[in-house]
Amino acid sequence: MGVNENIFLIGFMGSGKSTIGRMLAKALNSLFLDTDDWIEEHTQKSIPEIFSSQGEEYFRLLEKKALEHLATGTGQIIATGGGMPCFYDNIKTMNQYGITIYLRMEPKDLLQRLRNETAKRPLLHNKSEEELLGWMDLKIKERNLYYEQATFIIDAHQEKEWILEELLRKLHPYV
Ligand code: S3P
Repeated sequence: MGVNENIFLIGFMGSGKSTIGRMLAKALNSLFLDTDDWIEEHTQKSIPEIFSSQGEEYFRLLEKKALEHLATGTGQIIATGGGMPCFYDNIKTMNQYGITIYLRMEPKDLLQRLRNETAKRPLLHNKSEEELLGWMDLKIKERNLYYEQATFIIDAHQEKEWILEELLRKLHPYV
């Protein structure tokens, strides 16, 4: 099996884009890529370093560049940074160059996952759990405007294996 189109996984931090992306790439015998990894390799800096030395706006430009570069390939499974679809025309670019899948999850469940992973995610720095929950609630509402433009929306609270099966079923016409 293989896909001709690119498949972009979108959704909030902690929704499982990289985990599910890797599983999907294995099942479809396709190349797996991650936009955050691409940025880190090309700048030789970690994401927190980029945020602290050059700021978020510069990071968003790098994301746009990463997307424009990666979108020229075909048949790739691409996990994207949580904010990517919400800046510039990125969601349009993704829908133009492939199929987009939104892994949707509730803030309180995301918080369980992100609780111990704030160090590598600059937007989560210096917030108490209560602040984090309120902030995520608001952010997800804002971002849903973009996330919901995805080709498919998947309930990401489910078991990984269920999500994979469901995705393969939805992608069947394309593979
Ligand atoms: C971000 C999500 C992160 C990373 C950066 C900003 C966001 O990626 O791109 O820290 O704006 O939601 P993950 O969604 O892979 O954690």
